[in-house]
Amino acid sequence: MKRLASADRVFILTGAGISAESGIPTFRGVNGLWRNYRIEEVASPEAWHRDPRLVWEFYSMRRRVAAAAKPNAGHFALSKLGDTIGDKLLLCTQNVDDLHEQAGSRNVVHMHGELFKSRCDTCSRPPFPDSETYDPPAEIPRCHCGGRIRPHICWFGEIPFHMDRIYENLQRCTAFIAIGTSGQVEPAATFAAAVGDHARSIYIGPEEPANASTFTEVILGKAGDVLPSLLDGGD
Ligand code: OAD
Repeated sequence: MKRLASADRVFILTGAGISAESGIPTFRGVNGLWRNYRIEEVASPEAWHRDPRLVWEFYSMRRRVAAAAKPNAGHFALSKLGDTIGDKLLLCTQNVDDLHEQAGSRNVVHMHGELFKSRCDTCSRPPFPDSETYDPPAEIPRCHCGGRIRPHICWFGEIPFHMDRIYENLQRCTAFIAIGTSGQVEPAATFAAAVGDHARSIYIGPEEPANASTFTEVILGKAGDVLPSLLDGGD
């Protein structure tokens, strides 16, 4: 593995860019989702309270797009890395699609939730698999407690999932690699700055992220082009 030693504990952070070559739009690019939708209208607790139908239309559209997508060479390279180094890898993604899992990665940490799961907005019933599309729903689906079923997504203003495990692993890792994320959304934007002094950090993507100065190295290129040779080039 070029740039990785066999003793390395590796923390990978992926963002929308890793799924771009699979046809899933990013958020802030030229055709990015946030160019066509307003966050506060479709991805916030306030939006859910104001217009849950509009929220479900947005996530139903995203379910349809993601359901048609297939993993690309970048996802497969990361899955192969997991097969090689096992539990010395933590694969953390801001993405809500399941392309890492489809490529064979196990124990993926979805800090912003999962598109193909839903949960109750009221009771503590755990999130459950759900790939239905509800657009426009005649009725918002209901939980047996009477609450409304919402997408299992971390909206703006909510706390991302698995943060204890994430910060524990950031402290322990010796190599941090971020792929395809613009470095504009907290808390992930400060992960590179949060790794211990002993770790090096690499960014991979076609353009410099906003937090480029917090990385040891920036490699410009598409994930599907860079990752297979970077992660599979021999020690
Ligand atoms: P952005 O849309 O902000 O950034 C995507 C990044 O991917 C950009 O920096 C692109 O340069 C890069 N990129 C594009 N094509 C690529 C490729 N083929 N290979 C590698 N990189 C590529 O997406 P994120 O940073 O992931 O949160 O966005 C972070 C969060 O903001 C999302 O999880 C979402 C969004 O609002 C929530 O919805 C809570």
